[in-house]
Amino acid sequence: MIDDEIKLLHELLLKLGVTLTLAVVLFGVYYFMSRKRAKKVPGYFFATYVVTLSLYILLILNESEVVWFVDLWDVAYLWTKFAAYLGTAFYLLKAADLLLVEDYLVAKKGMHIPELLRLLLVISGLAASALVFLRTVMGINVVALVAIPTAATAVIGFALQDTLKRFFAGLMLGKLIRVGDWVCVAGKEGRVVKVDLGHVTIMTRDDDQVTIPNNVVVQQDILNYSKPTTKHARTTLVEAAYGVPPMQVQAILIEAAKAVPGVLHDPEPEAFIVAFQDSAIQYRLRFWIKDYARMQDIEGQVLAYVWYAFQRHGVEIPYPQRTIHMTKAPDETSIQASKRERILKALRRIEFLSVLGPEELDVVAGEAKIQIYLPGEVVVRQGDVGTEFFFILGGQAEVRRREGETGATVAALNPVQFFGEMALLTGEPRSATIVAQTRLEVLVISKEALARPIMVNPVLAERIGGILAERKAEMSSQQERSAHHGEPAPDMAAQSKTLGSRIKKFFGTTAR
Ligand code: CMP
Repeated sequence: MIDDEIKLLHELLLKLGVTLTLAVVLFGVYYFMSRKRAKKVPGYFFATYVVTLSLYILLILNESEVVWFVDLWDVAYLWTKFAAYLGTAFYLLKAADLLLVEDYLVAKKGMHIPELLRLLLVISGLAASALVFLRTVMGINVVALVAIPTAATAVIGFALQDTLKRFFAGLMLGKLIRVGDWVCVAGKEGRVVKVDLGHVTIMTRDDDQVTIPNNVVVQQDILNYSKPTTKHARTTLVEAAYGVPPMQVQAILIEAAKAVPGVLHDPEPEAFIVAFQDSAIQYRLRFWIKDYARMQDIEGQVLAYVWYAFQRHGVEIPYPQRTIHMTKAPDETSIQASKRERILKALRRIEFLSVLGPEELDVVAGEAKIQIYLPGEVVVRQGDVGTEFFFILGGQAEVRRREGETGATVAALNPVQFFGEMALLTGEPRSATIVAQTRLEVLVISKEALARPIMVNPVLAERIGGILAERKAEMSSQQERSAHHGEPAPDMAAQSKTLGSRIKKFFGTTAR
């Protein structure tokens, strides 16, 4: 009897000893790992450990026949066992989370596993363990109770579609991008400042924050300047004069780049010829940097160092060169003189200007200009106000007159003939429309050109008026010959006087 009791006591102590040893070893391992990671053991973890161990001791005591004062009810015993198992599961899951996920996968392997996912994993593991223990320890099948109807799952899934996409994309991103990396994502270049469940946040060189959804990031090219190493090659183009041998220029470029702080010596900078251009030989200078954040600064420094090195070695950075063929410009004064002579020649042929002396004619020539009209172009239009007179130097024109509803071509004008004198000298509206028939070259004399000679010598107005009256009479007799046969000819002297007064009035001189 006593032997049996001693045997049972031995058994009890052995069980307790093994349990305690196992618990201490497990805790010891965990504690050692935590110390190694310089992280404190969380309070809730320690509490779970103590409670679970106590439950095991309670169970062992309850099973032992020696300890008569511990005798749990069946149901209480089962729940205690369930709780102890669950505590163990939690302990193991949490240890796996910290040691395997946090220390190994995240810290050592560099995988991006969000906190929330880790919590979800522990909770899911715990829930699965609870289901298993409920079934095995308590004999309860709860799977049927917790199953969510398919329709509800579909609705939730659909609603969370985008969030889930970003979430899983975020899991993948951990491998590709890490906080601190310099990247170019979705066309934006910058330093990664945050990678969370939904977005990647980068800070650009201009200190702007760009937030891009994780699923967008994984669907596009990700250029990571920090991977596989932070070493990054840059290329700049430099031009140097043809006169310096390329090998010498290449050596200068390499030396200059090597001298810049931030440019790596391993690998060494490289220089190649790119092209023989119009004005210079173009070189490509390639160098490696480690700090991508300083890329622009280093690149600028390299170019500055190259400039100074070129100066020292007498290497010119040439301006664009062009071969220009110069021709002697024609003498402007001789052109003007021959043009003036041509105009004077034309003016001398104008009947009513014959009253002007050479000096006055020269003044008019100074103001006159030559113009070209193409076939079909209207030079003057009937009814318009006009203050210019035209002398035909070359080509042909047509005189068109409109009376009421009917219009007709009344005359053709050829070189040496003139038109537009009526409106110029009297201020009346144009009496006809003149249209160029061929390429028409005309000498144009403005009211201003004639004003000075007429104002200096108002008698000229009357003499011009006389010549004009003759012409007008000629024109009207032509008309009247066709319209009213036998009527007396107009009084030329009276008409010439009237025209002279009108001319003087129009040019602003007093009538005499
Ligand atoms: P002006 O009236 O200033 O403008 C139209 C010009 O047409 C006119 O001056 C004359 O020089 C010219 N002209 C008008 N009728 C005739 C015609 N029957 N024959 C020739 N030229 C004319």
